[in-house]
Amino acid sequence: MKRIIIAIDGFSSCGKSTMAKSLARNIGYLYFDSGAMYRAVALFCLNNNLVNSDGIDVNNLRSRMNEIKISFEADPITKNSITLLNGKDVEKDIRSLEVSRIVSQIAALDFVRADMIEQQRCMGKAKGIVMDGRDIGTTVFPDAEMKVFVTASAEVRAQRRYDEIIARGDKADYNEILENVQQRDHIDQTREVSPLRKADDALLLDNSHMTREEQEQWLLTLFKKITEEC
Ligand code: DC
Repeated sequence: MKRIIIAIDGFSSCGKSTMAKSLARNIGYLYFDSGAMYRAVALFCLNNNLVNSDGIDVNNLRSRMNEIKISFEADPITKNSITLLNGKDVEKDIRSLEVSRIVSQIAALDFVRADMIEQQRCMGKAKGIVMDGRDIGTTVFPDAEMKVFVTASAEVRAQRRYDEIIARGDKADYNEILENVQQRDHIDQTREVSPLRKADDALLLDNSHMTREEQEQWLLTLFKKITEEC
């Protein structure tokens, strides 16, 4: 069967990576988390004193981009994808609050995006990949054979995040979370470089009222249909 590229884009907190990972596992494809790559650049900045009280030291970062090589490998036990920054496992560090705080500034820099896109296209050379992000179907792989744009109402996404925080045993304010979700949607959709938008040929998956199993089935059915046609 012909191997294809699968691009899964969409809003934050709508379960993209969970569904992309499980699809990749089900069909024997490699999974790539493009958001993790922007997070790894943010971590590089934090580790190399490229962040100060005024924000990111953009000129310095620009001149050091050639020192940043990001790759992925499978955890030998869990088989989950691990992000490597210059060969070092940074999977846990890139999920820290410090990284989360600065990553959207990093992802808005045109030279960072150009570099990441080049690395992402290299990862897709042999096809047989699932990549999730914000601009995979529009910019990184405009010719991807399967494109999905995931969304859910802001209220549903805020409720999911609220439930996650409460389940961890932490305190949360639903209205505050909802406001944050709406703010991030606005930033993602209105930024100058590669704003979040659905590719014209992407299929919309609104998972507001779908279970995880229903989403998995939806994606598998679509994958089978597309690969039969290829
Ligand atoms: O999906 P995430 O929260 O791990 O993404 C981290 C940041 O990177 C977030 O600010 C969105 C941005 N991003 C992006 O601009 N383009 C992508 N293809 C993936 C993520």
